Parts: sequence; structure tokens; C-alpha cells
Amino acid sequence: MQKKNHIRSFVVRQRQLKKNKLLFENNDYKKYIVHYKKEFINFQFLFKRQSSIIIEIGFGSGISLIQSAKNNFKKNFFGIEVYLSGIISCLKSIKIKKVTNLKIIYYDAVEVLKNMIYDNTISQIQLLFPDPWNKSRHHKRRIFQKEFIKILYRKLIQKGVVLVITDSESYLDYILYLINSTKYFKISSDFSSLFCKHEFPTKFETLCINKKRIFFTLIFKKI
Ligand SMILES: C[S@@+](CC[C@H](N)C(=O)[O-])C[C@H]1O[C@@H](n2cnc3c(N)ncnc32)[C@H](O)[C@@H]1O
Repeated sequence: MQKKNHIRSFVVRQRQLKKNKLLFENNDYKKYIVHYKKEFINFQFLFKRQSSIIIEIGFGSGISLIQSAKNNFKKNFFGIEVYLSGIISCLKSIKIKKVTNLKIIYYDAVEVLKNMIYDNTISQIQLLFPDPWNKSRHHKRRIFQKEFIKILYRKLIQKGVVLVITDSESYLDYILYLINSTKYFKISSDFSSLFCKHEFPTKFETLCINKKRIFFTLIFKKI
């Protein structure tokens, strides 16, 4: 997954990697998985229907993503994650809950967006509690960089939206700085501009709520 000159926003957790790789290859999950290759995905073919596409980057174990997909059955969902243990939990739930409008991929979201997603096709891209990498020496690991904002812009349809939730004020400020300096998006306070509302808390969101920690919701819209 590692490419020269490409900063990785994640660290691969080795614990139970072998066991999870075997589970990942289980035939039961085949129909929910897209494998990484440098080839653009035809979502109409993949979901066997034409509908708006919602992408979630870093869905963890997918608690919120699965509920959103179930609750918005007319939309198609595509989850991107690099945490294999989370992916296995998500696959188990997709199967049990018989979710048909959600596919997932186990790969770096930056590469997936660049090499597998056609430009001007995605209605909404969401990052719910992206790793904040709070220490200054780790800021370069943040997924939000000028280049990433440009990629988000390219992949979204006109008026497409990005939804970000974070509990890190410094990361929020950094994302706002990037949006304002790149001029591809305008910040929106209008929740009705979302193609899919955020209604179900993620694992990190639930932790924040339980610990009474403040978190911030940011919506920005393609100009
Ligand atoms: C802080 S966790 C949040 C998980 C979940 N969204 C939640 O709110 O509970 C961030 C997640 O982003 C994933 N992640 C980080 N960089 C990624 C990348 N480049 N591509 C895909 N997933 C990534 C991590 O593996 C991790 O599961």
C-alpha cells in the first residue's frame, strides 16, 4: 500500500493481521468487497442500479455506515478503510443485516479516490473523526492536505458535499485553513445541503458523547 512521496495517514496494526486476512478472504463476504486495482469502478454495474453515491473514508467498524445504508436504501454507499479488524466486524454486520446498498474496500483512501473513482461522480464524501495526528511532528500524516482537498473536489459532482466531524480543534482549524486557501469549496452551515444526513453516531462519536467531549461538524460544498 505504500507509495513513494505519498504520506500515509495511518499505521497498519499488526495484531491478528494474519487471522483477519483469512477471514477477509471468506467466500461469504465476497459480494460486499471491492478489491483495489488501478481501474475505475462502474458503480451502476456494481450496485446494479443508478443512484447517488456516498463515500465514507475511515469507517472503523462501520457501526454508523451500516445504519445509514439501511436507513437510506435508495442511495449507494462505498466505505474505504485500512483497519482490517474493523472491516471484518463491518462485513459480519453487513451480512447479518442483509445490507445490499453498501460495498467496502480495504485500501488507502487517497489511492482509491485517485485511481478508482471517476471525476464528478460522487454526491457526498464523509470523514467521521479522521485521525487528528495532534502532535506537530505528526501533522504531515493528516489525510487533509492541499492535494487531498483537490482530489475531493475532482471526485464530487457539482454541489457535492464533504462532511467532516472531529473532536480536535486544531485539526478543524487546519481543515478550515486549507478550504479557505484552496478556494474549491465553500463552507456551509446548511445541513439540508447533505445528500445523506448524519443520524447515527460512530464509535468515536459515542465515546465523545459519553465523556462529554466537544466535537465539531463541518460541511463544505463544491463551488
Ligand atoms: C479515529 S478512527 C475513526 C473511526 C470511525 N470513523 C469512528 O468515528 O469511530 C480513523 C479511521 O480512519 C482510518 N484511516 C486512516 N487513514 C486512512 C486512509 N488513508 N484510508 C482509509 N482509512 C483510513 C483508520 O484506519 C481509522 O479506522
